[in-house]
Amino acid sequence: MESIIYFAPCIEKSMHVFEYRLEGKVALITGGGSGIGESTARLFARHGAKVMIADVQDQLGQSICEDIKSDQNHTVSYIHCDVTSEADVKNAVDSAVKNYGKLDVMFSNAGILGSSDPRISTFDYDNFKRVFDVNVYGSFLAAKHAARVMTPARRGSILFTASAVSVSYGMACHVYTASKNAIVGLAKNLGVELGQYGIRINCISPFGVATPLAREGLQGLDVEKFEEMISASANLIGPVLKADDIAEAALYLASDESKYVSGMNLVVDGGYSTTNVSLKMTMKRFLP
Ligand SMILES: NC(=O)c1ccc[n+]([C@@H]2O[C@H](COP(=O)([O-])OP(=O)(O)OC[C@H]3O[C@@H](n4cnc5c(N)ncnc54)[C@H](O)[C@@H]3O)[C@@H](O)[C@H]2O)c1
Repeated sequence: MESIIYFAPCIEKSMHVFEYRLEGKVALITGGGSGIGESTARLFARHGAKVMIADVQDQLGQSICEDIKSDQNHTVSYIHCDVTSEADVKNAVDSAVKNYGKLDVMFSNAGILGSSDPRISTFDYDNFKRVFDVNVYGSFLAAKHAARVMTPARRGSILFTASAVSVSYGMACHVYTASKNAIVGLAKNLGVELGQYGIRINCISPFGVATPLAREGLQGLDVEKFEEMISASANLIGPVLKADDIAEAALYLASDESKYVSGMNLVVDGGYSTTNVSLKMTMKRFLP
C-alpha cells in the first residue's frame, strides 16, 4: 500500500494528456505543400482539425497529405489552387465546405519572394506584378472567399503570413517588403469590417526560416548554414527558428484560446525588431 501511495504522483506526472486544440475545426491552408504551410498542416491535423492543403505543387502537396494521413488517420486532403486565380480560390473554399461541412480557419500563407535584387534602379514591372499577384491579390481572394462562408456562420479565423519585413526594414527587396506591408494593412482593415460577424483577422510575421522560399533568396544556401546565419544575427540566443515555431503561432491564432485576439500582427522574430544595436557597435569604435 505504501509503495502505491509513493508511486502515484510519478504515474500522474508521466501520464501526459494531449489536448486537441482544434478538435472539430476545418482549416484551409494555402501554400500548404511546403515550409511553414506544411508544418502548420501537420500540426493542425495533429490537433484534431480537418485540413485542406491548397497549393500549386500538386505532387508534393498530395504526398504530404498521404504522409499526414498515414500518421494517425488524420483527415486531410489536397486541392490544386493557384491563389492568383479567383476560380481556384473559390473552388478551394467551396470544396472545404462541401467535404467537411464548414470553414473555421483560413490560413492565407502562400507567398513568393520574387527577385532578390535590393536596388530600386533595377525595379521591373513583371517582378512587381508577380509578387503582388501571389502575395497581395492572393490574400485578398483568400479573405474574400473565406469571409463569404464565415459571415453567415458568424465565426471564423483568417490568418495571413506576413513577414518580419513588415516591422524591420532593409532586410529584403522593396517589392517583397511592400507586399508584406500591404498584407498587414489588409488584415487590419478587414478586422474592422468583419469583427461584427465574429470573424477574427490576424497576421503572423516570421523572421528567417530555412524554407525553399527563403533559401532561394540566398542562392540556395543549405539549411544548416541558413540557420547558422539567422541565429548569428538574432537577438534571442539559443533557440533556432523553425517552421514548426510559426505553426505553433498559427495554432494559437486558429484556436479558441485566442478567441478575443483580432487585428494583431504576431511577430515571431525573437525580439529582433525591438533592437537596434548599431549605435552600441559604433560606440565601441569611437570610445576608448
Ligand atoms: N521562410 C521565411 O524566412 C519567411 C519569413 C517571413 C515570411 N515568410 C512567408 O511565409 C510564407 C510561406 O513561405 P515558406 O517560407 O514556407 O516557403 P515555401 O517555399 O516552403 O512555401 C511556399 C508555398 O507557397 C506555394 N505557392 C507559391 N505560389 C503559389 C500560388 N500562386 N498559389 C498557391 N500556392 C503557391 C508554393 O508552392 C509553396 O508550397 C510565404 O508567404 C512567405 O513570404 C517566410
